[in-house]
Amino acid sequence: MTNIRSPLTPVKILMQGEKGGNEKFLPIGVMAVEPLLNRKRDAIAKMFSAIAPKYDLMNHLLTGWLDVRWRRFATEWLPASVQIVIDVGTGTGDFAFAVLDKCKEATVIGVDLSERMLNLAKRKAASTSKGERSRWLLADGLNLPFRNEVADAVVSAFVVRNFEDLTKGLREIHRVLKRSGVAIILEFCQPPRSWWWTPIGLFVRYVVPIAGRFCGNAVAYSYLTASIRTFLPAEAVAEKMILVGFRKVSWLTLTFGVVTLFRAVK
Ligand SMILES: C[S@@+](CC[C@H](N)C(=O)[O-])C[C@H]1O[C@@H](n2cnc3c(N)ncnc32)[C@H](O)[C@@H]1O
Repeated sequence: MTNIRSPLTPVKILMQGEKGGNEKFLPIGVMAVEPLLNRKRDAIAKMFSAIAPKYDLMNHLLTGWLDVRWRRFATEWLPASVQIVIDVGTGTGDFAFAVLDKCKEATVIGVDLSERMLNLAKRKAASTSKGERSRWLLADGLNLPFRNEVADAVVSAFVVRNFEDLTKGLREIHRVLKRSGVAIILEFCQPPRSWWWTPIGLFVRYVVPIAGRFCGNAVAYSYLTASIRTFLPAEAVAEKMILVGFRKVSWLTLTFGVVTLFRAVK
């Protein structure tokens, strides 16, 4: 297991069990987000369907368009020659499209629980030439409707922390990958406790839920805050990847630890 230091950002891994891990923190909506934090599949699907129309815009505004750069940066870790790529939790398809930009031979199959998110992805695909190299599937990432060893790569951005069972989700990704296939995962892992994190932490804790209120989705954005703060640190995710059989597991943090990018090989 290696921890690659990004030339762009410092790496700080918060160890599991370190102070502050699971404290109560939500400024609003604690009761409302509880079923979502328990990761009930239907509740998650319903929540993402509710925010689908504003999802892209809110993503861009809350991250200052860094989300676009994070996905593009993540595709740099993919071999350009991949042919079949599965995007688990594709949402409105932006990671799938970034993969298609980088990998000219690839067909991407976007899988998601939310039909509304998928419809937006399909609409985007239809408006570009990339539509021919994309497929969209309503399915659960914890039970992927594919045979073993079909994909050259599996990608997933901002999804695995929503899984009811992270180990099961990682096992599914591992199962559908061909031998030597690559998994690329972007996620908001439990943030570091460092001076540089303080303003970012305050932003996640207070500004994100308020922004959610203004766009009419207070619960969804309180859930976003809560799910980031209760998810595992990167090292613990990497350990689970190794446990399900991945090798060469590496990760780096982007933008002062806001996002973690994992790469692993089957
Ligand atoms: C935060 S969005 C990320 C969307 C997209 N990957 C991106 O980069 O913007 C999370 C997506 O994962 C989907 N999702 C959550 N749990 C899932 C599961 N078990 N199986 C499939 N999709 C899931 C949600 O419906 C939602 O569209």
